[in-house]
Amino acid sequence: MTQEEARQRIAALSDELERHNYNYYILAKPTISDYEFDMKLEELARLEHEFPEFLLPTSPTQRVGGGITKEFKSVKHRYPMLSLSNSYSKEDIEDFINRIKKSIDEEVAFCCELKFDGLSISLQYENGVLMRAVTRGDGMQGDDVTTNVKTIRTVPLKLHGDYPSFFEMRGEIVMPFESFDRLNEQRIEAGEDLFANPRNAAAGTLKLQDSKEVARRRLDNYCYYMMMDDLEDRYQTHYESLQAARKWGFNISNFMAICKTIEDIFEFIDYWDVKRHELPFAIDGIVLKVNRYDQQQVLGYTAKSPKWAIAYKFKAEEVETELKSVDFQVGRHGTITPVANLSPVLLAGTTVKRATLNNEDFIRQFDLHYGDTVTVVKGGEIIPKIIGINFDKRQAGALPVEFVKTCPACGTELVQKEGEAAWYCPNAQGCPPQVKGRIEHFIGRKAMNIESLGEGKVEFLYDAGLIKDVADLYSLTYDKLFGLSNDKVSFKDKTAQNIIDALEKSKSVPFERVLFALGIRNVGEVVAKTIVAEYHDIDTIINASVEELSAINTVGEVIAQSVKAFFENPVNMRIVERLRAAGLQFSKEETAKSDKEQVLAGKSIIVSGKFSIERDALKQLIEDYGGKNVSSISSKTDYVLAGDNMGPEKRKKAETLGIPIISEDDFYKMIGKTEMGSKTEPKTEDDKTLNEQLSLF
Ligand code: IVH
Repeated sequence: MTQEEARQRIAALSDELERHNYNYYILAKPTISDYEFDMKLEELARLEHEFPEFLLPTSPTQRVGGGITKEFKSVKHRYPMLSLSNSYSKEDIEDFINRIKKSIDEEVAFCCELKFDGLSISLQYENGVLMRAVTRGDGMQGDDVTTNVKTIRTVPLKLHGDYPSFFEMRGEIVMPFESFDRLNEQRIEAGEDLFANPRNAAAGTLKLQDSKEVARRRLDNYCYYMMMDDLEDRYQTHYESLQAARKWGFNISNFMAICKTIEDIFEFIDYWDVKRHELPFAIDGIVLKVNRYDQQQVLGYTAKSPKWAIAYKFKAEEVETELKSVDFQVGRHGTITPVANLSPVLLAGTTVKRATLNNEDFIRQFDLHYGDTVTVVKGGEIIPKIIGINFDKRQAGALPVEFVKTCPACGTELVQKEGEAAWYCPNAQGCPPQVKGRIEHFIGRKAMNIESLGEGKVEFLYDAGLIKDVADLYSLTYDKLFGLSNDKVSFKDKTAQNIIDALEKSKSVPFERVLFALGIRNVGEVVAKTIVAEYHDIDTIINASVEELSAINTVGEVIAQSVKAFFENPVNMRIVERLRAAGLQFSKEETAKSDKEQVLAGKSIIVSGKFSIERDALKQLIEDYGGKNVSSISSKTDYVLAGDNMGPEKRKKAETLGIPIISEDDFYKMIGKTEMGSKTEPKTEDDKTLNEQLSLF
């Protein structure tokens, strides 16, 4: 394929994929199968890889992320980002309308919209290209989160149609319930803290440094406001501007109505107060906006909010019910969580029987008594929360809820860590729910993936004394399992054989998952991967100091301390040794290269600038060939691998220290590769990265 042919094909594919994206995400009317879409996207990615000079930042392939934001730059908003005044009752809305009628004596129509419960974002476009995405911040300046926002499929990277050359769209970034539930499930498996609601999860996600992870979490965007100079010369109403924006590629909700009377407004509000539970994302109210721009101008603004708009907030649905008893649950790390058992009640479409009580402070704060009538809410949260007590209904002689002093499972006296509200059972090795919890974590899908040993079976084998820790799993044999049974589980021929097969197969599970499976506090799936990328085998990790571990990017002091504490415990070390003897992977598989090919052995290399392949892929190549990636230049650095737009400071420093600056081509020559990503060549490491990215679609 000639350069010109490639350029044309890339442009045609980009346009076509963009159109399909629009049909799928904005119009919800797909005109191509997922498979065909993936094939076209793969072709585009391949061509861009082969002809990097034609890779545009607006390409549909860029949705998978890849860019890292080290620090979110604070930038000033061109137009301040105001908020809305809130109202909670029909009277408030009546007052709002009456105030408006005092200033305007012609008919006023209101655009009624959903109030998305996420975080507001300002999207700046120049000549149809997304230039910058900025969070609200303090309203005057916010954080530049462009790299992360570009991964959101409902944010157009390139517009089509008769868009203005410079304008801003305001909207809300939300995390749909489906993404939220999946994320929290993953966090449960990883032993990480859960996000309380989709809004917090969206906010946390937008501030991640790794845009690939942002892409995976599947955020969404709805736009609800256009800003530009002389907007009112172009459109007469807010509604018109949003319809135009939809044509250019923005995701504009279909759930909007133009209402002229308070009755119509309340019909809209009451309808959505019920129907909101059927939406795939959270809304927390309705926004009313005066539709005509000339009327908006007459009404003007206060310092904080427009006088032509108001938010009606839904009341969080709440019900009263009786607190019957409290369970104290023991987690796999020994944390004791109090859980309220309630008289079952219907709340927001589901029957609620339990609510979390968090910790001892929470119980004290409410002065909770058994038999109390408590108010329960279910906002965006998955687990219902108690938000109050009806003291008038407290029965005489009711007993206060006391936090347990000893472990409800093993009777050990509980301990508290300094500065933490949680209580722990310190009997890590002898407390049944902790041990069972660790074994269940170990066999989990994302860990050793021994699914045939589901929850009930672990419990059975533990109670039968056949497994007392995760290492015991590898002394199970077919003969030991076959024929065991109780009223819940039974180990027939196939079950027993499946378990033995799965255990055998787990011996080839890669090291990073083994490290995760060990169940070290604060070491989730991602952290385990990060540690293994830096320290390739278990002995190096065991011997690393807290300082060394916390120097790994994104591994902080707290995680480093947990890792250190885990391996300092002789019981854990014995388990690790037994697992090692059983044949589990305790070092990173060497994808590279014979000694002869370790051409970069002992060389420290700093990578700076933009390259024809992803920077991570380049770094991987350095490691594959025995080199070490470093992040700052010192006299010990061997080479500076310079791409386009390398920072002038770095160049100056390299020159001053006399460190050779090599180009991407020089680098490929050094490792004996002359042509990257050619279709006829066997797959290279960076092809793998590319395919991994594509598999996300
Ligand atoms: S209009 C100048 N419309 O609610 C008017 N805001 O409390 C700008 N929000 O900061 C806002 N849905 O984050 C508008 N349909 C909607 C909205 C909406 C959610 C958020 C937005 C704003 C906050 C105000």
